[in-house]
Amino acid sequence: MTNLTGSAPGRVNLIGEHLDYNGGRCLPIALTQRTRVSVAPSDDGQLNITSGGLSWSGLPVERAEGWASYVAGVLWALDVDVALTLEVSSDVPIGAGLSSSAALECATAVAVDALLELGRSSAELAAACVRAETSYVGAPTGGLDQTTAMFARAGQALLLDFATASLTRVPWHPEEDGLSLLVVDTRVAHDHAEGGYRDRREECERAAALLGVEHLAHATSLDGLPGELAGRARHVVSEQARVDAFADAVRDRDWKSAGTLMTASHASLRDDFEVSCPELDTVVDVALEHGALGARMTGGGFGGAAIVLVPEEQAAAVRVAVDDAFTWRGWHAPGHLTAIAGPGAHVE
Ligand code: GLA
Repeated sequence: MTNLTGSAPGRVNLIGEHLDYNGGRCLPIALTQRTRVSVAPSDDGQLNITSGGLSWSGLPVERAEGWASYVAGVLWALDVDVALTLEVSSDVPIGAGLSSSAALECATAVAVDALLELGRSSAELAAACVRAETSYVGAPTGGLDQTTAMFARAGQALLLDFATASLTRVPWHPEEDGLSLLVVDTRVAHDHAEGGYRDRREECERAAALLGVEHLAHATSLDGLPGELAGRARHVVSEQARVDAFADAVRDRDWKSAGTLMTASHASLRDDFEVSCPELDTVVDVALEHGALGARMTGGGFGGAAIVLVPEEQAAAVRVAVDDAFTWRGWHAPGHLTAIAGPGAHVE
């Protein structure tokens, strides 16, 4: 056994937010920003995890905390009892809602699978990464992030159907039509983010139970739901329709319609699902005022990132206007990326 490096990407979800755990469809792309994990058998019989200046060391695997828990969680989910040394490096922004944790999990999984010749399929590795996050780390996420990191390909969006576990690839090349997909990291993560996500999941489960459907995304009538639950369900059902319309628009290179659907998705997440925040709303409003075709929050919400579909020649003006708006309100300067659809997890 020598040393092996696994690599996995961050992601942005183009549309289809909070649908994975509702049995719906989502349309993410992987980013070209990636996390790398080098793994080797350890000399000291301990589990050692290092990243830049940070290190975590010890056994048993059950006790890891913080960022190291994503790595240890994957070892736990893969039932690995060999002492390993893992070295992490990443250019996926952390805490930006771009799935740096799934990138870390999936890079660990492919590296360990190859080093120890476990022979697990991509689907098995993705499932192990989901278990690492939900059962070991304890974040009740829905599988979108790990599925994307594992299955993505360059130049493609993934139409993921969480009711049937099926995947359709949709070519994603807005740059060929002179458009950019900007990612604006608000650099805020509101304190209630994890609690808020958990609450929304529970509300969706209650709504589905009241309606007597297995998956809320497939509800045909929302009659009888009390006020707040009706809003949650309205988002889920309307978002499902927007995902399919968006995928069609992208296949037709009808970017105007695609942009309109993105903005409608944001309004639904803001008003019905109530997971946006002033910083995300500001990015969307300012981008639309400065020539964007569409803009929306992406990921779980309560902070994190927004995406903006904009003609390339207007991209710089949008960035400046967003920066100015943040400065004027006394907020930290946001971070900027351009999203290019990159490849999924692999061994380098
Ligand atoms: C987070 C979760 C995903 C998904 C999104 C919302 O990113 O990790 O599973 O639920 O929020 O679409």
